[in-house]
Amino acid sequence: MPLLIENGEIVTADSRQRADIYIEDEQITRIGRDLEVPPGTEVIDAAGKYVFPGFIDPHVHIHLPFMGTFAKDSHETGSKAAVIGGTTTYIEMCCPNRNDDVLEGYQLWKGMAEGKSVCDYSFHMAVPKFDPKTEGQLREIVADGIASFKVFLAYKNFFGVGDEELYQTLRLAKELGVITTAHCENAELVAQLQPRILEQGMTGPEGHEPSRPESVEAEGTHRFATFLENTGATGYVVHLSCVPALNAAMAAKSRGVPIFVEVVIPHLLLDKSWAERPNFEGAKYVMSPPLRDRRNQPVLWEGVKRGFVDTVATDHCPFDLEQKDMGRGDFTKIPNGMPAIEDRVNLLWTYGVSRGGLDIHRFVDAASTRAAKLFGLFPQKGTIAVGSDADLVIYDPNWRGKCSVETQHMNNDYNAFEGFELDGRPAVVTVRGRIAARDGEFVGEPGRGRLLRREPAYF
Ligand code: URP
Ligand code: ZN
Ligand code: ZN
Repeated sequence: MPLLIENGEIVTADSRQRADIYIEDEQITRIGRDLEVPPGTEVIDAAGKYVFPGFIDPHVHIHLPFMGTFAKDSHETGSKAAVIGGTTTYIEMCCPNRNDDVLEGYQLWKGMAEGKSVCDYSFHMAVPKFDPKTEGQLREIVADGIASFKVFLAYKNFFGVGDEELYQTLRLAKELGVITTAHCENAELVAQLQPRILEQGMTGPEGHEPSRPESVEAEGTHRFATFLENTGATGYVVHLSCVPALNAAMAAKSRGVPIFVEVVIPHLLLDKSWAERPNFEGAKYVMSPPLRDRRNQPVLWEGVKRGFVDTVATDHCPFDLEQKDMGRGDFTKIPNGMPAIEDRVNLLWTYGVSRGGLDIHRFVDAASTRAAKLFGLFPQKGTIAVGSDADLVIYDPNWRGKCSVETQHMNNDYNAFEGFELDGRPAVVTVRGRIAARDGEFVGEPGRGRLLRREPAYF
């Protein structure tokens, strides 16, 4: 059935207008005032609300075997939580480890999502090793529509690659025209520092940050940028958490290195004191790179506001309290990660636009459009235009509430932002023209999401 969204204020990354949106066959077919529509059209009144393009989370983990366990969400639970929170597309890290066959890993990850996700999705293909067989497989995977790689400079002997493999991966990325995303921490330094911190008697979650200090991330970021510079490949630093790493990325950018930067909502709003909470509560806040000293936050926010930071993602990676308990007495065994896919948009809206001076267009850009452009989804996703997919968020800026485990849909037994006030939420969310969420509840069709096949961008 066709759908009309009327009386809303349409806000994209670069425009703002009061107009109605008409949707047929999953796409936007008309935008204008007083549109004539056929009888039988479903009408949504968006008066007093914004209409944003569906938000894109370019960094999530759904299926993730990691640190002796598995991240908690399935595509069913994770995607429902996503659309309730306004995210209508996500890009999952497809993460086989060094001992896995990369192509088998890709098929496994694809199979986990197919027919389960309620919104559209894609993958960044992790490259955990580089050899002739893997290279051939990566070519096949890119030909299948996966136009981005992921490398981990962290997690030695598991996901992590050495310098030679990094170089080979980036050469291939350059040849194929795909962008490479990177977790930038020096794996060797982390491996050397962790036992030193344990020896000092710091065995709880508070030991996590000093075991991977800011300099370790700055080195990883600088090294990644240097490898980009010497291969001509384009890179994207994921979950950049601190000023020295941002300086390394910006220094490279100013030399002309094609490098882009992502921050994640936990680093913008939580600092390392959360991981220092007593009675092992800090374990909830163990992620990598770690939550940092709070002096970093205003600089990261400024980066978002000015566009030095390209995107705001989540790094959604939920582990429950029982899983976190695996690291009681040894912080190096606490599964790294926290949930956020449901709350990202509302938190960025509240602490960015509503309370923090973030421009509303930059908000749309950072949470949707820029990711669509970088990862080959634009203009199908990331904007409101005739011909674009009708992924839309009718946003109510007058709603008031709080983040809470009591009301969340993410499959986890805590919410990392418990009690954080929210100054708005999506009233209606559409996925390719059908209503998927309304007022904090999923009302869509199970398993309707599709794998988005992306073309290499030839950066
Ligand atoms: O702590 C984190 N970030 N967990 C997920 C894996 C990763 O490094 O992104
Ligand atoms: Zn990471
Ligand atoms: Zn991640």
